[in-house]
Amino acid sequence: MKTNHILEFLNQANHEKGLKEMFTIAFKQTLKVLKKEECYRISLTLVSKEEIHELNKQYRDTDRPTDVLTFAFQEADVLMMDEVIDLGNIIISPEVAKEQCGQYHHPYRREMAFLFIHGLLHAFGYEHHRSTKEAEEMFALQNEILNTMPYDFYTNINKVKKLLTSAQEKSLSGYSHFRVGAIVMTKDGKYHQGFNIENSAYGDCMCAERVALFHTYASGYNKEDIVSLSLITDSENVGTPCGSCRQVMSELMNMNCPVHIFNCDLSKQLDTSVADLLPYAFSKEDLK
Ligand code: THU
Repeated sequence: MKTNHILEFLNQANHEKGLKEMFTIAFKQTLKVLKKEECYRISLTLVSKEEIHELNKQYRDTDRPTDVLTFAFQEADVLMMDEVIDLGNIIISPEVAKEQCGQYHHPYRREMAFLFIHGLLHAFGYEHHRSTKEAEEMFALQNEILNTMPYDFYTNINKVKKLLTSAQEKSLSGYSHFRVGAIVMTKDGKYHQGFNIENSAYGDCMCAERVALFHTYASGYNKEDIVSLSLITDSENVGTPCGSCRQVMSELMNMNCPVHIFNCDLSKQLDTSVADLLPYAFSKEDLK
């Protein structure tokens, strides 16, 4: 797939593990929602509360700290270099973001994604100060991008890794000797396990993903309750779900629901979504 985004961290030392991946996904999702096909570059700098206060004072004449500042190139001139459109620089203060997430009851990473998307929309020329109409348009886009991001703000991946190993150990795979474990997380913070269950009549084997999903539904949950599905297989590479599981996932989970896939020793991780695993899914709409 053609990449149409370049994200540069201007201060490499300052970013936390996994954050760069999250910003990259947010950047990609913003371009997708805005239907931007060209190649764009954005720079991101993470600064302290004092530093953002200083910048706010110097460039915006506002003598207080803020959460995000955008210095957009587009406002002046779109700089074209090697067919890359430079959008400018976004400055975020993780310190301020941390303080705010308590206030808004957001997980920290969701707050960081929100600030980045907000800054990015400014870089594309969106504004919320000029008129209510423009503000509504910008906020609607912001929500759309956040709500369709195939990124999981909620699942505690370290906990899921432990649960996956324990689910995989229970696998009943005496015929294929290929062990698969799956964990579905629901919004109430509960984890529901599944593992593959094989049968001497091979066609009657059942995959771990479907066992975990049926287990979740049998416990009284539905698709709106599901936060993520995670998977581990005995493969050295990340072994993605089979076609039948993808079909079931597309009906029992929301299409933008995150799917985390791990290889046998948890050293490789693929973060994807139901929609990315099954584009153009057959659904009940097609039966009409
Ligand atoms: N299997 C799964 O549990 N999930 C998949 O997505 C692919 C395959 C199981 C089914 C069978 O027990 C074994 O792996 C070999 O196909």
